[in-house]
Amino acid sequence: MPISRSDALVFFGATGDLAYKKIFPALQAMIQRDGLDLPIICIAHSGWTLEQLRQRAHDSLAHAAKAQGATVDEAAFAKLAANLRYVDGDYNDPATFTALKQALGNAQRPLHYLAIPPSLFGVVARSLKRAGCADQARIVVEKPFGRDLASARKLNATLHEVFPEPSIFRIDHYLGKEPVQNLLYFRFANTVFEPVWNHHYVDSVQITMAEQFGVDGRGSFYEGVGAIRDVLQNHLLQVTSLLAMDAPVGNDPASLNAEKLRLFRAMRPLEPADVVRGQFAGYRDVEGVAPDSDVETFVALRLYIDTWRWAGVPFYIRAGKNLPITTTEVMVDMKTPPMSIFDDIQAAQSNYFRFRLSPEVVIAEGARVKRPGEAMRGNPVELVARHDTTPEKSPYERLLGDAIRGDNSLFTSDECVEAAWAVVDRVLNHQNPVQPYAPGSWGPAGAAHVVTSPEGWHDPQAETSEPC
Ligand code: BG6
Repeated sequence: MPISRSDALVFFGATGDLAYKKIFPALQAMIQRDGLDLPIICIAHSGWTLEQLRQRAHDSLAHAAKAQGATVDEAAFAKLAANLRYVDGDYNDPATFTALKQALGNAQRPLHYLAIPPSLFGVVARSLKRAGCADQARIVVEKPFGRDLASARKLNATLHEVFPEPSIFRIDHYLGKEPVQNLLYFRFANTVFEPVWNHHYVDSVQITMAEQFGVDGRGSFYEGVGAIRDVLQNHLLQVTSLLAMDAPVGNDPASLNAEKLRLFRAMRPLEPADVVRGQFAGYRDVEGVAPDSDVETFVALRLYIDTWRWAGVPFYIRAGKNLPITTTEVMVDMKTPPMSIFDDIQAAQSNYFRFRLSPEVVIAEGARVKRPGEAMRGNPVELVARHDTTPEKSPYERLLGDAIRGDNSLFTSDECVEAAWAVVDRVLNHQNPVQPYAPGSWGPAGAAHVVTSPEGWHDPQAETSEPC
């Protein structure tokens, strides 16, 4: 099992969208922060030259800098450009891998990063082995990891032909997000939560991942996945696992993974009746989308976790494109007090914990305090543990750095990825037709019925506390 630092980064799919939006900015940040200095061999089948690749990397950095009102750090870019190499070739052609072997020169422990469709993972992995580029190497693969449980199993078996499990790094960039890690930290670095974090005290949990934008420019990719495969099977079930898992026995990858796996396996597989799928009006006009597409751009569902801790507690999850705002938020609603002493407390005004994961990071507890005056009446307030708007290390910077060092704590194991597919497997075949919704709304009307309590979905835009 390789434990030393990788000495080259091989980047398949380097002329693609992900490289432009996320990877070049992450590499640049690693140069600025940690002095990253290793050959970066980019591979694609685009007929480009090294100069064109450098230009594309520069454009990507200019784009990222502009979004922050900054300009490109030319000194750091010069270091990045000096380390870039380019191999152009077809992934099905052995000559591409002979050229890669040559470009690797003296590097012994490459990290192969596959930002390419999963259908190519097998052929690339086997070709790396044949060309002598897989020994002591690591491989990073992008999501989606398969299309369903059967294909994920097959993919795992294919990768295992060439790479042992500890050398396979399956990316879910949500796991590289600071506020997502904070869910785990906050729960287990404090004593007060554990006694109430169960069905005795928790009424329900809601997770909303709302995006104000649609799928322009990604129509053909999105048409092949839909919201369940794109964000539910991975990002949102991962968030659920961190919220609901038992305490790991240590902070090492194996202990964390063991508890997450137990939790994934306890999630009751979803049935069509648990799920509402929606599609925003206008989706079918997006380039790359079929005129009669039945792919969901919105999903809302009710999930149960069959453990002693969570028996009977509904986890309501929704995600969608073209919703009113962009935010990801978790609400853990606590039960109302067992007896009503003060007459103004309604179910919707009970305690809660609110974790806003993006765009800003907030951890807050909802509570009630007495209003001044003779009457025993109160107002809802929020006790804020953290409210932070400063940008953190990007998930890709964090995760690529971890993979180069060989630390797989924040990556998904073969067993976890399969267990997560098992949860959604029965609802992938579009038994329920998509329900239309207007762009800018909170999804189709049917989504409201997913939440069984009269309070319905929490509105992440709502004011959560009142002045006392
Ligand atoms: C990606 C999905 O994995 O995550 C996108 O493919 C989605 O559809 C994105 O927009 C959301 O990530 P983030 O970090 O912007 O919340």
